Amino acid sequence: MRVVSVVGARPNFVKIAPLAREMKRHRWIVPTLVHTGQHYDDAMSEQFFRDLEIGLPDVNLGVGSASHAVQTAEVIRRLEPLLVGSRPDLVLVVGDVNSTLAAALTAVKLQIPVAHVEAGLRSFDRRMPEEINRLLTDAVADLLFVTEESGRQNLLREGVARDKIHLVGNVMIDALEMFRSRWMRSKIFDVLGLAPDRAYAVVTLHRPSNVDDPATLARFIAALDELSSRLPVIFPVHPRARARLDRGGLAAGASGSAAHANGDRGLVFLDPLGYLDFIALLSRARVVLTDSGGVQEETTGLGVPCLTLRENTERPVTVTHGTNRVIGTDPDCIAKEALRTLEEPPVPRRRPPQWDGHAAGRILSVLRRRWEGAAEVPAAVVRVPMELGAGRDA
Ligand code: UD1
Ligand code: UDP
Repeated sequence: MRVVSVVGARPNFVKIAPLAREMKRHRWIVPTLVHTGQHYDDAMSEQFFRDLEIGLPDVNLGVGSASHAVQTAEVIRRLEPLLVGSRPDLVLVVGDVNSTLAAALTAVKLQIPVAHVEAGLRSFDRRMPEEINRLLTDAVADLLFVTEESGRQNLLREGVARDKIHLVGNVMIDALEMFRSRWMRSKIFDVLGLAPDRAYAVVTLHRPSNVDDPATLARFIAALDELSSRLPVIFPVHPRARARLDRGGLAAGASGSAAHANGDRGLVFLDPLGYLDFIALLSRARVVLTDSGGVQEETTGLGVPCLTLRENTERPVTVTHGTNRVIGTDPDCIAKEALRTLEEPPVPRRRPPQWDGHAAGRILSVLRRRWEGAAEVPAAVVRVPMELGAGRDA
């Protein structure tokens, strides 16, 4: 089974790592990894390939940053000839970024089956670009791998056939477990001057609705400043937010990766961290404030209190089973809720069903069953589009 996996942005790299490792263990599968180039800074891209031992991608399409339309179109334009030439048996996409949708769309138009890992999540907020990407990717996918029961319910409600949907657990948690011994040895605490018993908070922000408007971003920073009068607040800054912070003069005194948290308190801006250092930092945080999808799941996996600075979440299991609370974006509320969390006893750890580190294995089992089933189908009934058939075995 020739599988082309397509990734493009930071969270995609984390999700593909356990799958890539699992694929290498099976001789019936021939994997190819395509990086669209949506994220390209070392700290947003190569660092993750190193930390997560993914190996170099086979192809980098180099699309870079652009508007939604141009970025999506460029992935489609550059991926199509590659898929026409190689005619894989499956294109596998993960998550909900522009590269996810673009790759799914390219494949389905060539009548190549699409597998979507992390299907079915819905925030029901169509102002989020990710919600559009999720809806459209799921609409064209043939295999929908779901992390939580809400995803299965959402897909059934949208009319997706039951036998296409597979509740397999969460590859983000696979990555967490796969690299546990490595992130536990991270030196980030020494680098930041954080004593082992020091309480601290971690923040990430990158949703356009939170960081694009300077006034909104300034209110977040004011709330974080207030919290930082109680404990160090460590903020590794996503490039989208960095540009806005710099423009608004909101990160005055920030010194990127050299910043040091050696005081009792203070808001510390950092460059984006690599996966191992970031997970190490999350694992011992007293509270995490975030608008990231992945971080909501990882804090649940780690049993660390998480406050989600959004009006909704597409990952409700992190609230019902995990450590997440969705508290909105009102700055008064943010500081108040964070301070309240500091007073509460640590939350007991309860992982959602199947968040056990074996999601990638389950996905490969489903692919294998499908592949063995396909091998039994007589060649005459395999649909090959006329104009593309010539390239099928190229
Ligand atoms: C993208 C995804 C979002 C995901 C996030 C993960 C879409 C629509 N958005 O958002 O769902 O949660 O990645 O981090 O796909 N930039 C750099 N260096 C880079 C990459 C980006 O400087 O390596 C800057 C550029 O100025 C760029 C901006 O960040 O314009 C935004 O990048 P983009 O990939 O368009 O969206 P993200 O906000 O990163
Ligand atoms: N992450 C990281 N370093 C950071 C911030 C995040 O390694 O400085 C990791 C985080 O642990 C998770 C992934 O990046 O695995 C989440 O990516 P992001 O928040 O950018 O995207 P989202 O999950 O919101 O789509």
